[in-house]
Amino acid sequence: MVTEVRIGSLVMKNPVTTGSGTFGYGEEISEFYPLNVLGAVTVKGTSLLPREGNPYQRTCETPSGVLNAIGLQNPGFEVVKDVKIPFLQKQNVPIIINIIGSTVEEYEELAERFDSLPVDAIEINVSCPNVKAGCMAFGTTVEGINSVVTSVRKKTKKPIITKLSPNVTSISEMAIAAEKAGSDAVSLVNTFLGTVIDAKKRAFVLANKTGGLSGPCIKPIALRMVWEVYKAVKIPIIGQGGIMTGEDAIEFIMAGATAVSVGTGNLVNPMCAYNVVREVEEFMAAEGIDNINDIIGCVS
Ligand SMILES: Cc1cc2nc3c(=O)[nH]c(=O)nc-3n(C[C@H](O)[C@H](O)[C@H](O)COP(=O)(O)O)c2cc1C
Repeated sequence: MVTEVRIGSLVMKNPVTTGSGTFGYGEEISEFYPLNVLGAVTVKGTSLLPREGNPYQRTCETPSGVLNAIGLQNPGFEVVKDVKIPFLQKQNVPIIINIIGSTVEEYEELAERFDSLPVDAIEINVSCPNVKAGCMAFGTTVEGINSVVTSVRKKTKKPIITKLSPNVTSISEMAIAAEKAGSDAVSLVNTFLGTVIDAKKRAFVLANKTGGLSGPCIKPIALRMVWEVYKAVKIPIIGQGGIMTGEDAIEFIMAGATAVSVGTGNLVNPMCAYNVVREVEEFMAAEGIDNINDIIGCVS
């Protein structure tokens, strides 16, 4: 049975990676299972300098989902380079770094710095809805995506994955812009901008007022978006949004994703991504699928 997939020059032994920001740098989850069971680990968004994130309350459960406004809390480039990457290297699993910036120059600088480090791919986050400057501001216009991806492309030969926002009228247009600017792949979707109100307090639940919605409640929309993007671009897609089981992952692959990532599922059950890997294999065996690549986009 062949489960190996390719995202540019990144070879994944199976199609399952982790949603940035839902898996830390793998330290905690590595106490539950060896990380090299996964096709790759995608780590929390990294900025040049450490960020404290937004004030609390930053997360809230919703029916079949989570609303978060973490605000890209992370230890910054130096700690990721000196502590997090060496840890992940020892786990012998491909590493996908996720980069964030408030300006095009910050993305460029990060791409240049990571280019010389032992990471396997760079995911450009132009889709976080929870910060005031940069990020989703770039990812919701063709011009913004074009300027960030073109600049990052000049600074690295590593595979670039552009992480798209679903908070747009046409996600296909954004995917086409990423492809034209030199992205090797796109990942979608990041979270949907939403809010939760406490009626008795007559107040927003999150200190940030709004947050990004994720989990099973977004899956049907994410699936539809993956299918639309599959029809619009030739580069591979990493599908995400509410994947909790192997069959969820298979649905994304059938819609057109080459690989998938498990995000909120890790917060519900630390074994979730591991289970998805096993359940994809079980589904393939039960359905007589010899090669996972044969079913990419098969519903189209
Ligand atoms: C708590 C939390 C933190 C997140 N942080 C990031 C991040 O730093 N960078 C990023 O690109 N996406 C981030 N995301 C988005 C996820 O990676 C994923 O795209 C999204 O949650 C949809 O997938 P899911 O429904 O499987 O969680 C975060 C999501 C959650 C729930």
